[in-house]
Amino acid sequence: MNVAVLGSGVVGRTLSAKLEDCGHKVVVGTRDVDSLLARTERAMGGRLPPFSEWYAQNSAVGLGTFAEAAKHGDIVINATSGAATLDVLTAAGRANLGGKVLVDISNPLDYSGGMLSLFVSNTESLAERIQKSFPEANVVKTLNTMNAGVMVDPKSVAGGDHHVFVSGNDADAKARVVDLLRNDFGWTNVIDLGDITTARGPEMLLILWVQLRTTFGTAAFNFKIAR
Ligand SMILES: NC(=O)c1ccc[n+]([C@@H]2O[C@H](COP(=O)([O-])OP(=O)(O)OC[C@H]3O[C@@H](n4cnc5c(N)ncnc54)[C@H](OP(=O)(O)O)[C@@H]3O)[C@@H](O)[C@H]2O)c1
Repeated sequence: MNVAVLGSGVVGRTLSAKLEDCGHKVVVGTRDVDSLLARTERAMGGRLPPFSEWYAQNSAVGLGTFAEAAKHGDIVINATSGAATLDVLTAAGRANLGGKVLVDISNPLDYSGGMLSLFVSNTESLAERIQKSFPEANVVKTLNTMNAGVMVDPKSVAGGDHHVFVSGNDADAKARVVDLLRNDFGWTNVIDLGDITTARGPEMLLILWVQLRTTFGTAAFNFKIAR
């Protein structure tokens, strides 16, 4: 399958490498390929090497603008900064998203006030904003409630005994995403919450997730729902 991964950060890199390993043809989307490859600074407080270092080890993955990547993808994954997501998808191009599954992993994080808050919550979610702005795409929210490493290797935490959520309006789109979660990433516990409005809960979980990372001193954990 041709997959577009919009985003050159740790999520974009982690998902691209895994999907390529699984036999998919991946193109990573970025604002400007030359400037991305020319960057020398580390990201994520020094924890993430420059993209060019990662790319040298993952050269089978394609690289293009957001529009070039989206055009390539039968399925498009949004792994960009939540604040930039609507601009990124506009740059990706309505025509390149039409009729496609749009997997949204972004979070509406806002650090501007000094403490973490969400720039949309309670009565709306970022996933709903995306779906309203791009009605021609089938948005499926998933994987936003865990660290990038856990997304593609759920067994790395508690042997995989924890949960991932999916939300979306289109049943076929959700089924394709669940298939990818199970068969490519190895998820066994998938909870279908319902339509795209149900993405509010998983997005609001991020306030708790970020606090838990501080409390535990590691991002290698996930939510397990006991009944
Ligand atoms: N980090 C995690 O483990 C994790 C876990 C769950 C969910 N998430 C969510 O997943 C998303 C990606 O996270 P991340 O840590 O991998 O990367 P990130 O630093 O949040 O986002 C990087 C991407 O956003 C793009 N971007 C940033 N500002 C932009 C702007 N003003 N205009 C256009 N594009 C812009 C960058 O474009 P360029 O390529 O051009 O630089 C890059 O592709 C976020 O929404 C995050 O909340 C992250």
